[in-house]
Amino acid sequence: MFEFDKIPNHKGKLALITGANTGLGLETTKWFVQKDIKVVMACRNLEKAEEAKKNVLSEFPNADIDLMKLDLSSLESVKNFASEFNKKYDKLDLLINNAGVMIPPYSKTKEGFELQFGVNHLGHFLLTDLLLPTIKSTEDSRVVALSSLAHRSGRINLDDINWEKKYSKMKAYGQSKLANLMFALDLDLKLKQNGIKTLSVAAHPGGSNTDLVRHIPKLLYYVLLPLFSFMSHSPKNAALPTVMAALDPSVEGGDYFGPQSRTEVKGKPGKAKIEPHALDLEMRKKLWEISEKMVGQEFTV
Ligand SMILES: NC(=O)c1ccc[n+]([C@@H]2O[C@H](COP(=O)([O-])OP(=O)(O)OC[C@H]3O[C@@H](n4cnc5c(N)ncnc54)[C@H](OP(=O)(O)O)[C@@H]3O)[C@@H](O)[C@H]2O)c1
Repeated sequence: MFEFDKIPNHKGKLALITGANTGLGLETTKWFVQKDIKVVMACRNLEKAEEAKKNVLSEFPNADIDLMKLDLSSLESVKNFASEFNKKYDKLDLLINNAGVMIPPYSKTKEGFELQFGVNHLGHFLLTDLLLPTIKSTEDSRVVALSSLAHRSGRINLDDINWEKKYSKMKAYGQSKLANLMFALDLDLKLKQNGIKTLSVAAHPGGSNTDLVRHIPKLLYYVLLPLFSFMSHSPKNAALPTVMAALDPSVEGGDYFGPQSRTEVKGKPGKAKIEPHALDLEMRKKLWEISEKMVGQEFTV
């Protein structure tokens, strides 16, 4: 069983967390700084990031935090970020691909991709590619993807990857979260095939009432709130599967973590169930190829 208190101090380690200014990213930051991990909070809004940094420092005054601007809805921003990061740092122990958006009205990224696929998957796909040389050269490094229970109903809609014919916000979210998990599992295979020691793992938080619900209509949100409160846990606890994936010494590449209640909506962190369709190698190959095509570059492991 994962026990945070038994995790040794990680002084000298560097973590990069996308979308760290609120919700699970903020809580993951707080868990990490307790082990003396320096955290680069990669956020699209630096004012919000400043507030979040103050929030962390008010609880953990010795926290070592750097703020950097990253907008995953723009491939240009991802490239600028990676180039700045690689100039500033020569190592990266933990890349936490956490940022996400859920069920927005139909919208597109700067390059014209459906927003959820673009931000949740493609932005992180490109970011990981651009940072991988630094990650690979760091001993005991890990890449952690944030998936979701929504991967279970998700399917990769290859015929209409940008949902231009018919947009279903839930299906598009499910697609993006399935893509997060498939990418983590494929990256793990490729790292192993190339004899690289970096681990690629995934986690899901179960349910947690964070800003992720911002696109749910207010009335529906309040109707669902009692049920949601019962079927969810605090952001602090919901961040623990990510923390386990990142820090537990027993973790192996390709592992997937989530809360341990029967429905995996809440509870202590442990191994989570991967739906068989996420293990479909043929579909994963197609996803990898279409992702390379969309971001406009080959992903070299
Ligand atoms: N909460 C849950 O129940 C739940 C369940 C399953 C999976 N997850 C996953 O957990 C992850 C974290 O979600 P959360 O619950 O913590 O949600 P949240 O509170 O809404 O936080 C999401 C973070 O992503 C950032 N973000 C959104 N669009 C971005 C963009 N274009 N570029 C850079 N950052 C962007 C947000 O920045 P702003 O604050 O500036 O918008 C925010 O920092 C997501 O991947 C989500 O899919 C959450």
